[in-house]
Amino acid sequence: MKKLITGLTAVMFIMAFWAATQADAAEYNGAKKCKACHIKQFKSWEQTKMAKSFEQLKPGVSADAKKKANLDPAKDYTTDANCLKCHTTGYGKPGGFKSIADTPDLANVQCESCHGPGSEYNKLMKENKEFKTADAKKAGLIIPSEDEKGCLSCHGGDSPFTEKVDAKYKFDFKDRLKKSHEHFPMKYTH
Ligand code: HEC
Ligand code: HEC
Ligand code: HEC
Ligand code: HEC
Repeated sequence: MKKLITGLTAVMFIMAFWAATQADAAEYNGAKKCKACHIKQFKSWEQTKMAKSFEQLKPGVSADAKKKANLDPAKDYTTDANCLKCHTTGYGKPGGFKSIADTPDLANVQCESCHGPGSEYNKLMKENKEFKTADAKKAGLIIPSEDEKGCLSCHGGDSPFTEKVDAKYKFDFKDRLKKSHEHFPMKYTH
């Protein structure tokens, strides 16, 4: 009996380790991959400012907002690591944005900024349409409404556009979830 329990513990440990490394190994693939299967969400997201957030780093764009935040409106911020970490997808992480020349498809705030790097759950969704959400989460999928911290990594204190420049600014999590993109009923029960 003791042997069996030790054996089971070992198997569970290996499985947990495997799940952890699987999510850790996940890389950013870009919104084009998701678009192939989630065209409705893609089209809705495309209408948001997130889909153009890289533009904000160009000289002359949103000059008044930049002045208010003590940024230089004439400066080109498109290579500034400090801005890129929030205005691109997966900056500095495996498979993530490097530069506009090397990784143009990862500019802007895309699906994986909220849903997590997709290389592993993309495979799962491709192979098994009726997958369980728990399995997708093990493969790195984030259900954004479960994690406000994920949003606050960009919408929080390090952003130049918070209550520091606008006293009335507030990140309203519930309202923002609604505005992430339009939501559509799913076909399968996950
Ligand atoms: C910690 C993340 C973060 C960093 C770092 C960051 N931004 Fe942003 N930026 C945001 C978020 C989030 C918004 C949108 C604000 C909102 O809607 O909550 C934003 C909005 C903007 C806007 C639009 C503001 C408006 O009112 O229209 C500009 C311009 C901008 N950022 C430029 C920059 C520049 C230039 C840098 C680098 C100096 C930078 N940002 C660094 C997160 C960040
Ligand atoms: C990688 C950084 C990053 C993360 C993570 C992030 N955002 Fe954002 N978000 C931004 C930036 C930058 C903008 C501003 C885009 C602009 O004004 O150009 C923005 C804008 C938005 C907008 C406004 C869109 C519009 O058209 O007005 C909504 C809504 C939003 N984010 C919701 C969320 C929610 C909800 C989460 C968490 C689930 C989240 N964001 C996580 C960076 C991020
Ligand atoms: C600003 C954060 C954010 C971004 C960016 C985002 N999503 Fe979502 N997504 C959500 C939220 C919030 C939900 C609802 C699930 C929950 O968290 O409760 C969701 C749900 C979904 C669902 C489930 C069905 C549905 O319509 O609700 C799919 C599929 C999906 N997203 C795909 C995408 C794709 C594809 C992209 C990029 C084109 C994307 N998402 C970008 C926040 C985001
Ligand atoms: C090969 C097709 C395919 C690709 C690629 C794909 N998905 Fe999916 N995804 C699916 C299918 C199928 C479902 C289940 C849909 C249903 O039940 O109607 C799903 C479900 C989801 C859900 C809901 C999960 C749940 O259990 O609530 C989210 C969120 C999601 N996908 C996000 C993404 C994102 C983000 C990307 C890109 C990084 C992506 N998907 C890439 C096919 C795909």
